[in-house]
Amino acid sequence: MPAPNIDTIVSLAKRRGFVFPSSEVYGGLGSAWDYGPLGVELCNNVKQSWWRWLVYDRDDIEGVDSSIILHRNVWKYSGHEATFHDPLVDCRECKTRLRADKLELPPGTPEDANVAELIKAKKVKCPNCGSTDLTEPRPFNMMLRTTLGAASAEDDPAALGYLRPETAQGIFINFLNVQTTMRRKLPFGIAQVGKSFRNEITPGNFILRTREFEQMEMEYFVKPDADHLKLVDEWVELYLDWFAALGLNRSNLKLFEVEALAHYSKRTVDIMYRYFPERDEEERQWEELMGIAYRTDFDLRSHSSKATDSEMLRTNPDSVEDLSYFDEPTKQRFYPHVIEPAAGVNRTVLALLMDAYSERTNDKGETRVILKLSPQLAPIKAAILPLAKNKPEIVGMAKAIKRSLQPVLRAVYDDTGGIGKLYARQDEIGTPFCVTVDHQSLEDEAVTVRDRDTWEQERIKVSDLAEHLQKRLKPSVSIGASTLGLES
Ligand code: GAP
Repeated sequence: MPAPNIDTIVSLAKRRGFVFPSSEVYGGLGSAWDYGPLGVELCNNVKQSWWRWLVYDRDDIEGVDSSIILHRNVWKYSGHEATFHDPLVDCRECKTRLRADKLELPPGTPEDANVAELIKAKKVKCPNCGSTDLTEPRPFNMMLRTTLGAASAEDDPAALGYLRPETAQGIFINFLNVQTTMRRKLPFGIAQVGKSFRNEITPGNFILRTREFEQMEMEYFVKPDADHLKLVDEWVELYLDWFAALGLNRSNLKLFEVEALAHYSKRTVDIMYRYFPERDEEERQWEELMGIAYRTDFDLRSHSSKATDSEMLRTNPDSVEDLSYFDEPTKQRFYPHVIEPAAGVNRTVLALLMDAYSERTNDKGETRVILKLSPQLAPIKAAILPLAKNKPEIVGMAKAIKRSLQPVLRAVYDDTGGIGKLYARQDEIGTPFCVTVDHQSLEDEAVTVRDRDTWEQERIKVSDLAEHLQKRLKPSVSIGASTLGLES
């Protein structure tokens, strides 16, 4: 049973230290969120799982960590300055700013209808106040601007810089650096995790759409004659397997063939998650979790000094490097093509929290929340709980066990409540195991290990405890580490 709606997760996340509304002391900053002690662990575990899966388990992917602020020309030649726009509409009545492509159109409107015409004909309502007095859509660039240099004036165009709206460009401009230093031959990929920024017109729905977020992107470089469309499908399947290994239920994922393609894409398939199960219309229950795009050779070409257009004119007079690749076996030089799986850390975390949410009624008829996170992702792996906190020997033994486990797994000690309350608290934050130290432990050097999902308990010798927990924490589903079987 996943969470019935995002609000249930917002409340759990705040109550239990996963995510807090940002800047609360000043009344909050709309759509900005801070990750608390458990949230930061969960995010780190997702990112580490992704990095291990792509960079360590495979043999064909390298990692990088590029700057957030890049040369302004990166965004000029990537096409973001000219085209990274959302269509902005204002409601003249209540002054709400809206995205034209997200407005609800009258029932029966054909898919290819012109939204600007419908607005002009007063057929579209403001979702906030119901007025039909809306402005015409106009392009709004989503890159967040900044000024660079201590002496710069705010409106000095020479000082204009951007916070990156995608991590991908930091990979493209380092293509040759990585390829030559790591002596890579095609096909190979470059992965990067990091913050991206977009001045979203309508952020919202908790951590689903924010102006600051984190991406896990990988650019997979292949020969121009590779079977690109098939590669997109293969990466879709690999990601479905990865999400399954993380614990997402396949019935809450679906594929969407994108029609309104980004300026760089020849094909994009989105993996959608059911973030809005409470909505009656099935179609409106889904939102993008990640996208897998075939970006052709667009970016490497755009950033290259030698690339020419159909009239053999240089397309980039500012670049001082050529990002082409020399293929030794065929003695040919070309710009590699790219398949790009681009996922969001925050959207993955939200999907995982929603999918892991479950409720169970105990013997007393009380409803308990259990967060059935996969053990590899759980922020805390084991909670060590003393049955009696006024017995120094029991407390001492519990603390010693916590210290001995810490080098191999994330463990905490807690004595701030009765045992029932402590179990309930750990269930709610997804801790797979509670280890209870009781009076008998002092005699038999054994403890009780309680399973989060079954509530079953078993007695384990303290000397075997670390090995026992480590074995049970191993992921039950392993993800295929095979490469894609392309010729090198
Ligand atoms: N380099 C390609 C690219 O950035 P995208 O579909 O715009 O593609 C990739 O972004 C992923 O980044 C999305 O699928 C989503 O998970 C995440 N993402 C994008 N915008 C976001 C936002 N405003 N808030 C949270 N996550 C976002």
